[in-house]
Amino acid sequence: MKRVRLALVFCFAASGAQADSLVEHDYLLNCAGCHQLNGSGSVTVPSLHGISGLSDTSGTRVYLIRVPGVAQAPLSDERLAALMNWLLERFTGRAPIPRYTAKEVSQLRKNPLLDPRAERARLSPAPISDSSER
Ligand code: HEC
Repeated sequence: MKRVRLALVFCFAASGAQADSLVEHDYLLNCAGCHQLNGSGSVTVPSLHGISGLSDTSGTRVYLIRVPGVAQAPLSDERLAALMNWLLERFTGRAPIPRYTAKEVSQLRKNPLLDPRAERARLSPAPISDSSER
């Protein structure tokens, strides 16, 4: 696992992208292995660009933290809140209003979704997006 992570760091550096902020580093180490550096996902992992198609509701806000890959990320509540604020800004064009706080994230991540795809379908009738659609 360490080797994979290191390879990702080199990959990221080689791509010329800036890995200087802590939040990007957290994305790189904890999310990019599945969602890819550019968020495009794979056949089995949804593209993060698809979250811009979700309605701007409290249900979506809760869903995004309860998705297992988010809820169970090995990051503190503070770092996860910062990561999700950054992630939403990056993939939907605007940060959540209000921004996630450590306190909110701490509460929501206690209940990871058992069936995230069913919850996703409930929030948006559009099919979950994956890289085959881009
Ligand atoms: C082991 C692979 C894996 C890792 C690591 C992972 N995810 Fe995911 N992610 C998935 C899969 C698969 C889904 C689809 C829902 C499910 O089956 O859990 C998903 C769904 C999501 C969604 C919802 C997308 C949508 O359109 O509904 C978001 C947001 C998300 N992940 C963010 C993250 C973030 C942020 C991290 C890092 C902290 C992360 N994921 C780490 C595999 C992963």
